[in-house]
Amino acid sequence: MAYQGDLVGEHESIVETRRLIMRVAQSKANTVVIYGETGTGKGLVARLLHEQSERSNNEFIDVNCAAIPANLMESELFGFEKGAFTGAQAKKTGLVEAADGGSIFFDEIRELEPVLQAKLLSLLDSQEFRRVGSVKSKKVDVRFIAATNKILSGEVRAGKFRDDLYYRLQVVAINITPLRERGDDVLLLCEYFMRRFNSRYERNIRDIEPAVADIFRAYYWPGNVRELENLLERIFILESEDQILARHIPPRIMREVEGDARPVYPEDLSDDGLHGNPRSIGSDFYKATADFQRQLIEKALATNNGNVTKASQMLGMSRHALRHQINKLNLTP
Ligand SMILES: Nc1ncnc2c1ncn2[C@@H]1O[C@H](COP(=O)(O)OP(=O)(O)OP(=O)(O)O)[C@@H](O)[C@H]1O
Ligand SMILES: [Mg+2]
Repeated sequence: MAYQGDLVGEHESIVETRRLIMRVAQSKANTVVIYGETGTGKGLVARLLHEQSERSNNEFIDVNCAAIPANLMESELFGFEKGAFTGAQAKKTGLVEAADGGSIFFDEIRELEPVLQAKLLSLLDSQEFRRVGSVKSKKVDVRFIAATNKILSGEVRAGKFRDDLYYRLQVVAINITPLRERGDDVLLLCEYFMRRFNSRYERNIRDIEPAVADIFRAYYWPGNVRELENLLERIFILESEDQILARHIPPRIMREVEGDARPVYPEDLSDDGLHGNPRSIGSDFYKATADFQRQLIEKALATNNGNVTKASQMLGMSRHALRHQINKLNLTP
């Protein structure tokens, strides 16, 4: 994600987040953890933590723990010496070393393998690391920023995340509030993205129809700010009016806003992970279960940018079965 600017918003939770970023950025804290549902702005906050610190003249290194294969992670992070293993024909500098004097961002920290969690902890404590194949340790001065869209305590209880690393990270935590709990910030963000897209797409969309403001305030925004950004961009590309109209809003959002079912999202930042909606239980069993299925599937699709294969993996069902459900429920991936 390219650096895009400030954290927009006037809701007290966002004002507080901005204040925290400034305090932490300018402090000596060398570890920070950022919690927030998908699309709430964790990547943006991580970057601001770097930009607003004395470290901003040095590198900001972004490590996506879910994207780098576990077997390559150690040498990616720490580098290696020539001859450390077959194929290591020359020494290589790792990402930690490249971030010296700057910040390193461990996105999706939950995905880091236990062995590497241990190495990371020792690095956090000593600010020293060893290249693969080296006996000597090297000093670095790096700020570690971690992010996760799920509370880590559950992983700690399940034995998947080291408790010592968890406590170490927990010292300075920044929690980003979901968009649906930020009141009218959704409208401020909408204006902000409209300005950006007006210039990017050379358009002149003035404002939004009042009904759209109501929809935006009522909608659950499972994909948070990113979902809003993507929705607006799509409208800029596909619609030709100079105002954003209610009929530009996709039917799945209208259905959710008009129905009174509170959606259920498996990735919710809560310990139990699932909240039922008491209002939808008991009224009509078949409708309630279909709504429930629809919400789970929509959330999985939104989280995976419409990728059916990935969504099916998240839901623990076959791609074929998910396709079938999508057709049955009249959803669009
Ligand atoms: N308060 C905000 N003001 C302006 N832009 C924002 C704000 N919050 C998020 N954004 C923008 O929304 C998009 C999503 O944010 P970001 O990628 O930081 O979310 P994330 O929490 O890292 O998501 P994920 O969990 O999916 O990685 C980005 O384009 C980001 O710049
Ligand atoms: Mg991110």
